Amino acid sequence: MTTDPTTQTLAQLGDTTPEKVTARFAEVRARFDQQAAEHSVKKDADEWKTFVVAWTGRKSGVLTNVGDNWLKPAAKELKPVVGQELNKLKAHVEAALEEKRKEIEAAAEQAAAARDQVDLSLPGVQRAIGTRHLIRQTFDELLRIFLSIGFSVVEGPEIETPYYNFEALNIPEHHPARDNMDTFYIEGARGGHLLRTHTSPMQIRTMEKQAPPVRIVVPGKVYRRDNPDSTHGYMFHQIEGLAVDTDITFCDFKGTVEYFVREFLGPKAKTRLRPSYFPFTEPSAEVDATCHVCGGTGCRVCKFSGWIELFGAGMVNPAVYGFVGYDAAKLSGFAFGMGVDRLAMMKYGITELPLLFQNDVRFLRQFP
Ligand code: DAH
Repeated sequence: MTTDPTTQTLAQLGDTTPEKVTARFAEVRARFDQQAAEHSVKKDADEWKTFVVAWTGRKSGVLTNVGDNWLKPAAKELKPVVGQELNKLKAHVEAALEEKRKEIEAAAEQAAAARDQVDLSLPGVQRAIGTRHLIRQTFDELLRIFLSIGFSVVEGPEIETPYYNFEALNIPEHHPARDNMDTFYIEGARGGHLLRTHTSPMQIRTMEKQAPPVRIVVPGKVYRRDNPDSTHGYMFHQIEGLAVDTDITFCDFKGTVEYFVREFLGPKAKTRLRPSYFPFTEPSAEVDATCHVCGGTGCRVCKFSGWIELFGAGMVNPAVYGFVGYDAAKLSGFAFGMGVDRLAMMKYGITELPLLFQNDVRFLRQFP
């Protein structure tokens, strides 16, 4: 290995004339050019740094060495040449390094851009979309049926006043019909508020706001202070129905109910009305359908009766019209209230209500 001439003085090198000095500088410059060329942009960053430091490092870079060893101790008459040559060399080295640095940066940017490029031909990320919950599906099915025969959908508050939940529905304060409708009361609420026990309050709210005719269905959540068991919880879902007009008869009521039952359970399902009691309908009925499991011949599901109870209904009690300013002498109508969870359980053979609310995917997946 030859010693680096820049670690020696010019005198030591025997360069005593301007020509020799110039030649010596040319030699150094050629060495730099050669090394710079070897550092193609693809070489790694550490090697590049070492190269830069070897030439421009303050302590023992070639340029520093030339300054220290050639310029400072140079003979007086050579100093101007050495100084000029050194300046030229410096300018050359710095310009070359700067150019290289830019090249390297640009290449790095290009590489990064290439790395970040989106490949549209790759398969996309598959996300499980999930399905609508069985309750939602049942709501949709029920609403579809009623929308198809001219009902429209309204929704109302789950927090109600006793007036809308009871009084205006012809259930006064000490009426026994309140017994199975105990609910949750909102503490400190002005005038007393409660969680509605049925969707029937929306009959009142709708008729208060709207002149007849009325044809609405009301889907929603309702609450009761029930002890939880396989068919009861503190919350369940209902769809209320109300039709009021000047010429609605019991035949319209029966026809609508039968149409609904056939749509929901199939064309073979038969309907039966059993006398019942609700304060807000008169007469009142329980709507039964032929058992969807045995078709009416009797089985364990229908307790060998051939019939399954579906929901409560009736002709609107004229007393109710008095609460909303409707003319009871001119108007008539029918109403119904169905338990959505109950209908879903019946239709799909589910025996445990809590399954509907535990969000266990093993259960939910059975209803895609
Ligand atoms: N609101 C009643 C309940 O929750 C259900 C009901 C029965 C609603 C008869 C009606 C109806 O509109 O006519 O038990």
